[in-house]
Amino acid sequence: MNQPIQEIIRHRYSCRSCMNVPVQETHQQTVKNFLETLQIGPFGTHARFDLAAAAQDDKRSLKGLGTYGFIKNPAGFIIGAVEKGPKNLEDYGYLLEYAVLSATDIGLGTCWLGGSFTKSSFAKRISLRDEEIIPAVVSLGYDEEKRGRDGQFRKFFSAARRMPMELLFYAETFGNILTINAAGEYAEPLEMVRWAPSASNKQPWRIVRIDDAWHFYLQRTKGYGKGTILFNILRLADLQRVDMGIAMCHFKLTARELGLNGTWVLDDPQLQTPDGAEYTATWTAKEK
Ligand SMILES: Cc1cc2nc3c(=O)[nH]c(=O)nc-3n(C[C@H](O)[C@H](O)[C@H](O)COP(=O)(O)O)c2cc1C
Repeated sequence: MNQPIQEIIRHRYSCRSCMNVPVQETHQQTVKNFLETLQIGPFGTHARFDLAAAAQDDKRSLKGLGTYGFIKNPAGFIIGAVEKGPKNLEDYGYLLEYAVLSATDIGLGTCWLGGSFTKSSFAKRISLRDEEIIPAVVSLGYDEEKRGRDGQFRKFFSAARRMPMELLFYAETFGNILTINAAGEYAEPLEMVRWAPSASNKQPWRIVRIDDAWHFYLQRTKGYGKGTILFNILRLADLQRVDMGIAMCHFKLTARELGLNGTWVLDDPQLQTPDGAEYTATWTAKEK
């Protein structure tokens, strides 16, 4: 990355209105080179990614695939395929968000699109194998509005669209608020989690700190996602698990940039969780 990761994260937003121009050759090459490095997620699942130019009937097919909203003039898509298996959606979210941040770094606008791509033209373009799925893709292009997140309106609007820290991060137990002071050096990685994109902006990530361990939980949104009739009909992947991987990516990249060492482990502290929040993973901080 050319810019500090925190700046890239703060600058990223869902770009839904692109200029009607293709992705420049040099930018295509940068994205492709980066995608080649993304092969295995923090939980060990294999994935592969490719950059595809937008095709004529993408607009029509996207409508039928369960994605919401409308992307004007996408120049291309990052399409990924991930092996079936435990924690594969978290791995997919982690890796694809890394690609999103790298594309943001070179000035491309992006938007995550969750849908049922497995039997679509997107699957053909990546030659999807039986043992793989495509939980989401990312559209790419140059922002038509060129305002980015820095535009005054957007800044206000986006800030209003994130939950405050008090509702997301806890100390020792759920409900016991983690103050910025108590978060110490980790205040910034946590803040970068807050700015992560999430399906329908539901922000389902919760983190509980116990000593030097940061336990990540998925607090499912009631009436949304896995198990609901809509998701079943549309055969959507469990997108809130993808959200968890995205949050882990923001946390880890920020920690690394700040020189905070650590590793991902599975070490469920068996806490009492509100409304069945599900344990995902733990970041264990190491001595510097
Ligand atoms: C897994 C996932 C799926 C998403 N699916 C869509 C989608 O189908 N259509 C869309 O317009 N935005 C989609 N988004 C983008 C979110 O709506 C967006 O990230 C969220 O509203 C926060 O806004 P921001 O990205 O501008 O910060 C998706 C995001 C994620 C992480």
